[in-house]
Formats: sequence, structure tokens, C-alpha cells
Amino acid sequence: MRVLKHLFENNRAWAENVRRTDPEFFQRLARQQSPSYLWIGCSDSRVPANQIVGLLPGEMFVHRNIANVVEHTDLNCMSVMQFAIDVLKVRHVIVCGHYGCAGIRAAQRGDQLGLVDHWLRHVHSVCQKHAPQLAEVADEAQRSDRLCELNVIEQVAKVCHATATRDAWERGQELAVHGWIYGLQDGLLRDLNTTVTAFDETHAAYHAAISGVL
Ligand code: CO
Repeated sequence: MRVLKHLFENNRAWAENVRRTDPEFFQRLARQQSPSYLWIGCSDSRVPANQIVGLLPGEMFVHRNIANVVEHTDLNCMSVMQFAIDVLKVRHVIVCGHYGCAGIRAAQRGDQLGLVDHWLRHVHSVCQKHAPQLAEVADEAQRSDRLCELNVIEQVAKVCHATATRDAWERGQELAVHGWIYGLQDGLLRDLNTTVTAFDETHAAYHAAISGVL
């Protein structure tokens, strides 16, 4: 109970395996990180960021929370974004949701799960914003999947409005913001076509993406 022996064994085997294919790997990474991507995804254990896109340690900066929410009042998320954009100079911010997200479903149903309900109010707002269009989807699972997509598109717009992002674009730094969704059933990513590379594209990209999923 106190020592998770099997995890340490796994770790030793993994490190050994990495060293066998690239003896300098850890020494090189220990000196510095220079990832090109910031991933903002769901905490769900079935959506491991690096693995899905086949990236190694050092290649992607990662922030995960329940239902991949970007909130301007969330000091954690905003600090991650600011550090990734200003200091690490990532070229891409990827907001990645996933179908079958339990957080999205709970927000949609108005389930009472405890403290997490406060967090899920952010998703509930997305649900209310698009309530008339969502009501047209008869099947509950499909309606939930639509909300998973809408939630990503809304969060992308919030990334674009964040100070760190706008400042980067204003000083001419190259930065693209993407909205993706992952399928638990097939392990595949889908682009929600809401990519923004300059602040003045935000509005059009948002509306095009929303009409693309509804
Ligand atoms: Co989720």
C-alpha cells in the first residue's frame, strides 16, 4: 500500500528501454525543454496526451483538467498558457476534447457529484448557450457528443482571447490555436476546423466551426 512496487519496476524498465534506443536521451532533456506544442486536454485516464500523438517526453507541454476547460479566472490554466507561450515559445496550442466525456455528460444532465459541480458550471454555460440547437438532437449520446465538440470550440475562442495569446500575436509571434476531438472508440483525432493564427480570425473561425458541428 505504501510503496507502489510495480510502478517503480515499470519505470525502471521504461527508462532502460529509452536509454537502449537513445543513450543520450535523458542527459539531453535534462538540460532544457523546447516543446512546440501546448496541449489542453481532459484529465480522463483514457486520453493520454503524448501517447495519442506519438510524442516523446520534451515535445509537448501539457495542461489537463476535467472537461478541458479554459477559464480566464483560472490562475493555473492561465499560468500554464503564459509560460508555454512567452517562455517556451510553443508554436501551437491544442485544445483537445473527447467523445464520451463524463464531465460533459454530468454538466448536460445537471448531475450532483459534489465539489466538481462548481467546475462543471463552465460546461453547463456552454450547454445553455447552445440549448436550442442541442435540443434538436434526439439521441442522448449524440447530444452529449455535440456538446463535447461545442465545448472545444468555445474553449478555443477563450484561448484566443487570453492575454498571453493576444500579446504574442501583437508582437508578431507565430502561434496557432487548434480545436480537436478524440474518439475513445477508435483512438482517432478529428480536427474541428477552428484553427486560429491571428486574433482577427477568431470570430469567423468560431462561427464557422459552430455551424460545422450543429
Ligand atoms: Co473528459
